[in-house]
Amino acid sequence: MATTDDPSYTRPTRLVAAGRPPALPDAPLNEPVTFASTYHAGGDRAYGRYGNPTWDAFETVLGELEEGRALAFASGLAASGAVLSLLPDGAAVVAPATAYLGVLDQMRELRDAGRIELRQVDVTDTAAVAEAAEGAAMVWLESPTNPNLEVADLAAIAAAARAAGALTVVDNTFATPLLQRPLELGADIVVHSATKLLSGHSDVVLGAVVARGDEVFARMDAHRRLHGAIPGPMEVYLALRGMRTLSVRLERAQANTAELVRRLRDHPAVERVRHPGFGAMCSIEVAGGAAGADRVVGAVGLWVHATSLGGVESTLERRRHWPTESDTVAESLIRMSVGIEDVEDLWADLARALDAA
Ligand SMILES: Cc1ncc(COP(=O)(O)O)c(C=O)c1O
Repeated sequence: MATTDDPSYTRPTRLVAAGRPPALPDAPLNEPVTFASTYHAGGDRAYGRYGNPTWDAFETVLGELEEGRALAFASGLAASGAVLSLLPDGAAVVAPATAYLGVLDQMRELRDAGRIELRQVDVTDTAAVAEAAEGAAMVWLESPTNPNLEVADLAAIAAAARAAGALTVVDNTFATPLLQRPLELGADIVVHSATKLLSGHSDVVLGAVVARGDEVFARMDAHRRLHGAIPGPMEVYLALRGMRTLSVRLERAQANTAELVRRLRDHPAVERVRHPGFGAMCSIEVAGGAAGADRVVGAVGLWVHATSLGGVESTLERRRHWPTESDTVAESLIRMSVGIEDVEDLWADLARALDAA
């Protein structure tokens, strides 16, 4: 009999079937939410900061999808902060010129405290990234980048980083393991804001680290135990519940994105469309600069003017309104997270807002 963790199953099937309690009579199909600060002595978990069965179920599914060992963290930034804690004092870190501003803010904080040297590069320039990796301890990639949606050659960069003795870290939030598996391409660590597509319903803040090797896994586990950036069990339960439908959500959102991108390219108010050719994110640069973009985001009705992304509902925002957003992001750039609504309704609302701007 095939088991739920049969490795021959494809990822969409494993998303549904993995991480479930043993199929015993009257056992629940879903791993329940375990609210526990402590456990009866004598086992491995011992205490609520060290482990939780609901975390285990989520980590099993994400680990299987990414081909590594996953650990849930309180948020995406708790996950990236844990990974950056691997750096020894004085280490050089290669990072994208444009990436999620919170991750870059974490790195700038370390740089300003004199803890690391920060080398920011254009991640689409593989030779430049490889050159910057010489003498570095870590190459941090986000691909596609937030919000410029640039794509890095993960395999080539991971190989160059390994040759230079640097760890490669990939923020896989935008692609998800259904579209891109950095560990298979040679990266050492994947980080996720599980707040986004993995959870998918804009009701959870959660992060994860997925390690390829046991040593990194052990260090991340030790960091979580000691520093305590642990998720609540309810958040993890909701994230796993959301992940069960990731493949169908992403399929629909991707199809919607491709169609909207096709139409946006022909809209006179749109000066540039950014789309990596896959995924459910696109960005547009509109006529009229920051003011033009602000008018568009203020004129939508069905689209939700809000930060964050990856939910079933379509959201959009002008990224440069955030004070620490990189100046490599155009003032007029509107980042769009495409949901699973009917694409005709999405287009009608967006075109109305663009026409009015
Ligand atoms: C690509 C990316 N990485 C990391 C994060 C941080 O995740 P969180 O908000 O869950 O801390 C975000 C949040 O927007 C993100 O977009």
